[in-house]
Amino acid sequence: MTSLQGKWSFVTGASRGVGAYLAKGLAELGSNLVLHSRDLAHTSELAARLRVSGVKVVTVAAELSDPTQIDPLLDRVQAAAQIDILYNNAAIQVPKQSANWQTSVDDLRRSLEVNLISVIRICDRLAPPMQARGWGRIINLTSGIVDQPEQTAYAVSKAGVDKYVRDFAPKLQGSGVQMNLLDPGWLRTDLGGPNAPGDPASVLPGALIPALLDNGESGRFFRAQDYAGLSLAAALQKALHP
Ligand SMILES: NC(=O)c1ccc[n+]([C@@H]2O[C@H](COP(=O)([O-])OP(=O)(O)OC[C@H]3O[C@@H](n4cnc5c(N)ncnc54)[C@H](OP(=O)(O)O)[C@@H]3O)[C@@H](O)[C@H]2O)c1
Repeated sequence: MTSLQGKWSFVTGASRGVGAYLAKGLAELGSNLVLHSRDLAHTSELAARLRVSGVKVVTVAAELSDPTQIDPLLDRVQAAAQIDILYNNAAIQVPKQSANWQTSVDDLRRSLEVNLISVIRICDRLAPPMQARGWGRIINLTSGIVDQPEQTAYAVSKAGVDKYVRDFAPKLQGSGVQMNLLDPGWLRTDLGGPNAPGDPASVLPGALIPALLDNGESGRFFRAQDYAGLSLAAALQKALHP
């Protein structure tokens, strides 16, 4: 297991839901944080709480559906810190389409911008410096969504993330950079809705495993719920010997 003490993690969509738990879990392991949301006010309380625990925290804001905001966001991130660990967590799930064969093109474009295109652009900026240093962890949030064509915009955006990560995996062999997928499970967040079976807190410790494993593996699909209720040490053992 790698130590995260003093490393810098960048978490998109850190203001609430899964992202806020990722930030908490990373801070508990000693990682400094750059926290993203759409408005600095959305992460200010969380940042203040995490700073008390002794880590450095920087907050940044950007609307990820707006392609003009991505490069300025990444300029601010890179000016603040050298990012070792990236969680591409921010996403939107537009309301279900009401009838078959009627995917709204606007919903599709917005979902692809936030959930896929921004993810690729963020990786494209932050992965090369990781590769140059010979160490990095990229964890792209995905979903187990299947057989729900009424959620086409969301589902195809996440399928694109899966394809991107898996196709990159062979190229990352031996680079020190590991890029993997994380499905947090269906959880009662703003995105998951009130009928979801899972408590968002159950993403820990599983969500931390792809940041901690030091086995050179990329392209793996981690399910945070496989590790719910375990200690971090037990979760790591399970991940190493599935
Ligand atoms: N919850 C589930 O059941 C579930 C299941 C499978 C996968 N996932 C995945 O897990 C990840 C986290 O989901 P969640 O349930 O925690 O979501 P959430 O509670 O709705 O939180 C979404 C986060 O993303 C940010 N965000 C939303 N729209 C944005 C935009 N247009 N531009 C920039 N940032 C934006 C929000 O920032 P603001 O606060 O500023 O709006 C917030 O921090 C997502 O990738 C999701 O697809 C979730």
